[in-house]
Amino acid sequence: MLDQGAPPHHDAPAAPPSAPGPAARLMRRKPVERLVAEGGQGEGGSLRRSLGLWQLTMISIGATLGTGIFVVLGEAVPKAGPAVTLSFVIAGLTALFSALSYAELAGTIPVAGSSYSYAYATMGELVAWVCGWCLVLEYGVSVAAVAVGWGEYLNELLDGTIGVTIPAALSAPPGDGGIFNLPALIVVLLAMAFLLGGARESARANTVMVVVKIAALVLFCAIGVQGFRSGNYENFMPLGMAGVSAAGATLFFSYIGFDAASTAGEEAKNAQRDLPRAIMLSLVIVTALYVLVAAVAVGARPWRTFTDSEASLAQIMSDVTGQHFWGTLLAFCAVIAIASVVLTVLYGQTRVLFAMSRDGLVPKVFSKVHPKTGAPRANTLIVSLFCGVLAAAIPLGQLADATSIGTLFAFALVNVAVVVLRRTRPEMPRTFRVPLSPVLPALGFAFCVWMMGSLSTVTWVVFGVWMAVGLVFYFVYGYRRSRLAPSEAK
Ligand code: ALA
Repeated sequence: MLDQGAPPHHDAPAAPPSAPGPAARLMRRKPVERLVAEGGQGEGGSLRRSLGLWQLTMISIGATLGTGIFVVLGEAVPKAGPAVTLSFVIAGLTALFSALSYAELAGTIPVAGSSYSYAYATMGELVAWVCGWCLVLEYGVSVAAVAVGWGEYLNELLDGTIGVTIPAALSAPPGDGGIFNLPALIVVLLAMAFLLGGARESARANTVMVVVKIAALVLFCAIGVQGFRSGNYENFMPLGMAGVSAAGATLFFSYIGFDAASTAGEEAKNAQRDLPRAIMLSLVIVTALYVLVAAVAVGARPWRTFTDSEASLAQIMSDVTGQHFWGTLLAFCAVIAIASVVLTVLYGQTRVLFAMSRDGLVPKVFSKVHPKTGAPRANTLIVSLFCGVLAAAIPLGQLADATSIGTLFAFALVNVAVVVLRRTRPEMPRTFRVPLSPVLPALGFAFCVWMMGSLSTVTWVVFGVWMAVGLVFYFVYGYRRSRLAPSEAK
């Protein structure tokens, strides 16, 4: 069943003789051609195509490089010891296999919904919804987690420059010794202000911030290596392989975001060519930086002295040089670095909801486009306020792991989607192909499941509750309002 004016497509079922049953409705797929033809269209206007390869790569790096390396590294080292470098490689491999699948699908189905849309085209509406709901964890909830990390570095910076820190009551959520995390809320609101200005303006600001963060990490390596002591590597794997994989699962958070470029599919100038390139380029750059920074960090400081959630890199800079200035400079760069994650991840969340709204699975307000800026304004406001309040009220550790499990689930589905689309639509032109398919997508799937298995029971319970809430929402709202079911809508 098609809406009026929908383009012809190959894989749409012929008009059924009778209404499909409930199970068939859960499996209804959205034809690739229709997904692509609707690209950019929102309520009352269209998104603008203004982003080239450089900006798309910067969006993916912007969304990836941030709290994971500047903050979460401090949580991972006590789990793995110096072998945390290996944990980065394992988490990076998980990301790499999935990145290949993302690259193929982003080039084939270049739309704002990212994996949600890929699942819609291949595995049907229910799986697509589950995927989209996981993306809310990946993007929406991670914005909150990242904003909390931003506040920690801001305090480090304020302490180093003017000797004042924001009191715990106003810089930590309940459960972490505070009442309200004001800095976390502020950074989300700042990002919101950029996004309301439009995608091009946001991408420009992000590019400047990404250059600053890469420069900061290179500087860290150059200085940190001077404090390198080989003795710090003597007991390389003190907590065994279990520790390495547990740290890998925690550090997977630091790779989340490489797929952000895929949410810009409707604002890219040449999406089919540039999206796969941007995804792969950003992942390679980020992985190289992570392994290097982690190797230098555990070489410069005994692993036992790393403690949870502190501004570890800034402290290493200060310790190695004996001058507070360098630590403060790194804290300044981290503040900028993490702000760019908030900006780009928030961007991704708004675009995924945009696509879901256009499909009728979430309210229409999320696909309204402002005629002047070409930005989904109401969507941006709602998402920012939601993320801001979440950031201000929930502790980071629980958020980071909940984010990782949702992301891993979405990645696992993308690995399945790439194989399904190869089977169902082998003739479609693909600007990028995963080599050795289905072996590499199968490996990507297996790595995601393995990483999910390394996360704690509490995280699984949080995930279970999250999915249950999502399913209730789908059956109460999206199932009936889906645009693939026009006769049943409203
Ligand atoms: N990967 C992003 C970060 O580490 C979410 O901040």
